Amino acid sequence: MHISSLARAMSAALLITSASAAMADAPGDPAAVKEDDLGKWVDAKGDPTYKIEPDGKLDWFAYSGFRRYHSECHVCHGPDGEGSSYAPALKNSVKTMSYAEFVGTVVGGRRNVTSSQENVMPAFGDNKNVMCYLDDIYVYLRARSTDAVARGRPAGHVDKLPAATAAEKECLGLEK
Ligand code: HEC
Repeated sequence: MHISSLARAMSAALLITSASAAMADAPGDPAAVKEDDLGKWVDAKGDPTYKIEPDGKLDWFAYSGFRRYHSECHVCHGPDGEGSSYAPALKNSVKTMSYAEFVGTVVGGRRNVTSSQENVMPAFGDNKNVMCYLDDIYVYLRARSTDAVARGRPAGHVDKLPAATAAEKECLGLEK
């Protein structure tokens, strides 16, 4: 039986979500310590993070996250992760929310039942245009949380590796 990488990512997200309910750990230091073969960086805890090269270039995933955030999240959460009257500033949320909590919220959505307003965070778990770019969006928001990346379009970025293109196509279910 063929299990798509999207299904794998989603079941992994559900697993870490239930684990985080017990631990609710805070995010760690965002400093990048290790790069994988897609060009994606992780911090000391192994969570995805951004990396600014000495020449000022942003890693590919954080740059991609800038674009994906502005196509999928901006409409409610405001430009540059700054928040709006409808939805919270995600550049602040990622300072206290763990990576697992972030993923769980985007996969499953959330409805604020205590507020007098009916503010609804939609569930994106079956939306590949979000799920295939969840780490990208997360690392972009992390870079905004420390002001490592200023508001607006990042000036320069590291080239996308062929392995990242292949992984993206596989996640989206496109021909390689
Ligand atoms: C239709 C509007 C809408 C869209 C689109 C949307 N959100 Fe939300 N989001 C909300 C609202 C409203 C809340 C607050 C819900 C609550 O109060 O429980 C929220 C909450 C969140 C939270 C929890 C923040 C916190 O501080 O607790 C995260 C994380 C989040 N959204 C991520 C995203 C991401 C990532 C995207 C884009 C892929 C996105 N959202 C797109 C409306 C939206």
